[in-house]
Amino acid sequence: MRTYLVTGGAGFIGSNYIHYMFRKYEDQIRIINVDALTYAGNLENLRSVEGRENYTFIKADITDREAMERIFKENDIDRVVHFAAESHVDRSIRNPEVFIKTNVLGTAVLLNCARSAWEREDGTYPEDKKFLHVSTDEVYGSLEDDGSYFYETTPYAPHSPYSASKASSDFLVKAYIDTYHFPANITNCSNNYGPYQFPEKLIPLIINNALHGKKLPVYGDGKNVRDWLYVEDHAKAIDMVQEMGRLGETYNIGGHNEKQNIEIIHIILETLQEMLPEGDPRKALVREDLITYVEDRKGHDRRYAIAPDKIKAEIGWEPETMFKDGIRKTIAWFFEHEEWMRNVTSGDYQKYYEEMYLS
Ligand code: NAD
Ligand code: DAU
Repeated sequence: MRTYLVTGGAGFIGSNYIHYMFRKYEDQIRIINVDALTYAGNLENLRSVEGRENYTFIKADITDREAMERIFKENDIDRVVHFAAESHVDRSIRNPEVFIKTNVLGTAVLLNCARSAWEREDGTYPEDKKFLHVSTDEVYGSLEDDGSYFYETTPYAPHSPYSASKASSDFLVKAYIDTYHFPANITNCSNNYGPYQFPEKLIPLIINNALHGKKLPVYGDGKNVRDWLYVEDHAKAIDMVQEMGRLGETYNIGGHNEKQNIEIIHIILETLQEMLPEGDPRKALVREDLITYVEDRKGHDRRYAIAPDKIKAEIGWEPETMFKDGIRKTIAWFFEHEEWMRNVTSGDYQKYYEEMYLS
């Protein structure tokens, strides 16, 4: 039975990936989920898998070398899928250091542990050992509104402390590939949305605020463009790259779904109105006049757009979920998980929200 070490599996994409993998492989794989449970990690995301015999959760920090070494020593790890990171751009602008620590040092620790566990004396690796580093399109910088795209060959030009830390971690993975022939892939994906996304990010924040009649904050002119991908499509792409990708290669993953932020907000409001039943008191709270233009994000990247040509040509992956369907599924999920939202927006989130939006 193949053993996966998933880092950051209690976060948004990591938990969706774990659900996807158990749906697909059921009892044929074992997953060890290592997560430090920061504000973004939530074991509620994994309630339905926690009783499985082929699932283990370990609370540990990926920058803790001894803890990571122990995990590799005590388990015969075949695959690493590395999600764990500080992931929110606005937080990186306020407090960059933790991004450097987790995203750069944490990746270095994992690479070292995996290499020590896997490399043979002659510098080769067993065939089934593979490391997948989950990264972002933000490493490529910002595009103009001119129809250009990010390709795997686009030079790195990160702007925020978050994207700079992710770029650094990508370079470390590339260095291990080049120096030690380390069996790794990198995926650079565009903006994800879907179930379990923490409401500091645009889509869940707007859904949550709209349902509570709160202001809907739009940075700058609202015309920044992101390329949105339904999270399950991302999970599928990661699995396909690890199974079918050429080792050492980078694959861009994107939704072919570019939208301005203000368009996203209008779509959410319209979809909420369509989906809320007549007589539901929340219908009156969901209002366009709550859209509020606020100060722009510092160094705000204008446009991201991925060309997923390589992953389609080599692996056969394409985005499957149309935005209009993905956003309905996401909203339906949030309707069914009001308690999840209440739990994650209590405590620390309130403090963050007040400092970020109300100060
Ligand atoms: P997230 O913030 O929702 O989850 C991150 C997880 O990592 C959390 O469970 C957190 O507890 C854990 N974590 C943080 N620091 C840790 C540490 N030091 N040790 C162990 N665990 C730690 O993030 P996400 O949106 O699910 O993103 C996952 C990965 O995908 C990240 O590497 C991110 O850069 C990348 N990515 C995200 C998107 C997106 O749109 N969200 C798009 C492309 C790539
Ligand atoms: O592109 C991939 C990246 O997408 C991932 O690597 C990051 O981990 C993920 O957080 C996301 O980064 P963004 O900065 O693009 O996502 P965010 O949801 O924070 O913002 C999306 C856009 O919406 C961005 O242009 C800023 C804007 N925005 C965001 C918030 C939270 C607003 O206008 N208002 C808001 O309140």
